[in-house]
Amino acid sequence: MANGRSTARAGRGEREWSLAVDFGTCFTTAAMLGDEDAAGAVGPRSLEIENSRCLPALVCLDDSGALLTGRAAQQRAVHHPDQAERAPKRALARQPAVLLGGRSLPAAELAAAVLRRVYAEARAAHEGRAPARTVLTHPARWGTAERGRLAEAAALAGIADPGFLPEPVAAALHHGQVHAVPEGGAVAVYDLGGGTFDTAVLRRTAEGFVAVAIGGDPYLGGEDLDECLRDLLAERAADRDPDPWHALWDDPGPPAAARRAALGRELTAAREALSQTGSVDLAVPGYPQPFLIRAHEYRAAAEPLLTRSYELLAATIADAGLDAADVHEIVLTGGASRTPRVSDLIAERTGRLPLLTADPKSAVVLGALAVLPPTRPPGSPEAAQPPDTDGAAAPGGRVRRYLNPDGDLGFRFTPHR
Ligand SMILES: Nc1ncnc2c1ncn2[C@@H]1O[C@H](COP(=O)(O)OP(=O)(O)OP(=O)(O)O)[C@@H](O)[C@H]1O
Ligand SMILES: [Mg+2]
Repeated sequence: MANGRSTARAGRGEREWSLAVDFGTCFTTAAMLGDEDAAGAVGPRSLEIENSRCLPALVCLDDSGALLTGRAAQQRAVHHPDQAERAPKRALARQPAVLLGGRSLPAAELAAAVLRRVYAEARAAHEGRAPARTVLTHPARWGTAERGRLAEAAALAGIADPGFLPEPVAAALHHGQVHAVPEGGAVAVYDLGGGTFDTAVLRRTAEGFVAVAIGGDPYLGGEDLDECLRDLLAERAADRDPDPWHALWDDPGPPAAARRAALGRELTAAREALSQTGSVDLAVPGYPQPFLIRAHEYRAAAEPLLTRSYELLAATIADAGLDAADVHEIVLTGGASRTPRVSDLIAERTGRLPLLTADPKSAVVLGALAVLPPTRPPGSPEAAQPPDTDGAAAPGGRVRRYLNPDGDLGFRFTPHR
């Protein structure tokens, strides 16, 4: 796919199609464009795997040493938590290898298992044909090393020559596809996912959108909010009787590991429920009575983390040379942005009511589908080439690309409208 142009892999009379994959900490999503669905409609459509648009990120070794994904991985992980990695994306960013069931596996292989599954399911939806191009999104703050590992995982999964796009830039482009943004107007994105927090500011120009600043924290997300709730629970447990809590966390055996994993799932479900309800009950192994946690208590525990996320958003807006009052729209996406305190905090600090994307799981892949990849895999010869400002047709509009030294922001996109 030299310079992002597609190579024809479709046969005579068959449409080329494009694939965008948002490899997430908790869930991976994908969308496809250029093909016809069962009703004969042409347009972006989400890939469904096991009747869901969200493929759980978790991978688990089976008895033969193969890596399971999806429901099979989830089911096996309940009984073999030591053979499972809940968040391959976090592992990919943090460490070269992961210990699973006593075996050291390259983190890129765990990520590749997820990408391979998505790629196979997407090709199966196209009679086995490969996409003409594939775009992978990544956290805004991932550097060359992390993007390099993602490229390695994609290669292991058999994805040929993918393009790369920062997640919040994709989300902002999707906003530009569905909402009118006046020329000169800026869109700020706050994307709080399961494990990463991404921010971006894009400005609408006569030509399209230009990304002017990106930021965030690749180690901040819903998993950290889970930890806030767990710390709160630990305090309660210590007040009631510290012994069962210590027994739960200090026991290295597989049954205790399975109980800890189950409690982790309960914590996530309880935290999500606290976005809707005033209190939750949490049962903890070893305690005969559940613990009652009230929403305001959880909110106080999560406040420092959410304040930090707001400050990172404010820093990105400042990096763009703007004040929050100058931004046309502040867009919230990512599952954890559904935490009610996020909107309240932004509204309190900026006097602006942020806009919740209608479908936080699809904004990134749909935005990513609309552009040709602006960057090359790190280390590829094209990355060192001088800027390329040729206009190029993209599924959702027209892209003008150039390559920055860091490869992140070098494109302009004009939607068809
Ligand atoms: N209603 C809700 N209230 C609070 N948090 C929620 C809600 N719904 C989902 N979440 C949280 O959103 C997170 C998952 O979001 P999302 O699917 O956007 O992440 P991801 O794309 O997998 O991760 P990332 O983009 O960080 O790599 C989980 O931590 C989940 O608990
Ligand atoms: Mg995400």
